[in-house]
Amino acid sequence: MRSGVQMSSGGSGGRSASATDPRLPSRALGARGSTVELDEVLRRRRMVRRYTDEPVSRADQEALVQAALRAPSAGSTQGLRLLVLSDEVDRARLWEATAWVPPDSQRARLGEHLRAAPLVIVPLCSEQAYRERYAEADKAWLPAADRWSTPYWYVDAAFSSMLILLKAVDLGLGAAFLAFPPRFVPRFRERFGVPEELEPIGLVLVGHRHPELGPSRRPEHRLPVEELVHRGRWGAR
Ligand SMILES: Cc1cc2nc3c(=O)[nH]c(=O)nc-3n(C[C@H](O)[C@H](O)[C@H](O)COP(=O)(O)O)c2cc1C
Repeated sequence: MRSGVQMSSGGSGGRSASATDPRLPSRALGARGSTVELDEVLRRRRMVRRYTDEPVSRADQEALVQAALRAPSAGSTQGLRLLVLSDEVDRARLWEATAWVPPDSQRARLGEHLRAAPLVIVPLCSEQAYRERYAEADKAWLPAADRWSTPYWYVDAAFSSMLILLKAVDLGLGAAFLAFPPRFVPRFRERFGVPEELEPIGLVLVGHRHPELGPSRRPEHRLPVEELVHRGRWGAR
């Protein structure tokens, strides 16, 4: 673990099979040193918008993908797909397909920094997959209006994206989640041969953090907990 952040990456030698069973409560992992230092990963997780030109190794790419695939999935539908772009030519094709005209020089510079990311993972979701899954016998009893209050295909893809962001921290890398402007989606599908039913929910950029990080929109601007969290009933703290 290059980051010095303790986070389980699977396959940690020396542990017994029962100690690595993810269904067991974490206490069953035993020694404090073998538990996940998740707080540190959460604390460090910020959007990184500037990268060095060092590539992301194949092993790290694999670890990021595996992390994404550990996400929960409504009805176990697994309607998520990932398009991984590490080759320079493919990434250039992506940026060309999603080209936008920056309104000012500061945004143009930010765009340059973002486009320099050596790895882009595009999380894609399929509404159709969820509609089909929830039409199966064990789900079809749910009234159609009660199946989801939020479209689960986006929820699942967002969970997966988050895991990529966290895994990047664990690997000592930086990452950012960016919007995927809808008007570019048809051209993106056409350039990459992506089926019509798949919708990109955003772009996840990954790379090695540049020593001079790109501009942060709102540096560590967090609303106060009291404003966000209500206990017992709305308005109570
Ligand atoms: C759905 C979503 C879309 C986002 N889109 C962009 C984007 O297009 N460009 C960008 O620079 N950051 C984008 N962000 C990152 C947010 O600006 C960032 O998470 C927020 O400012 C808080 O900063 P932090 O993530 O570093 O804590 C997006 C984040 C989310 C969750």
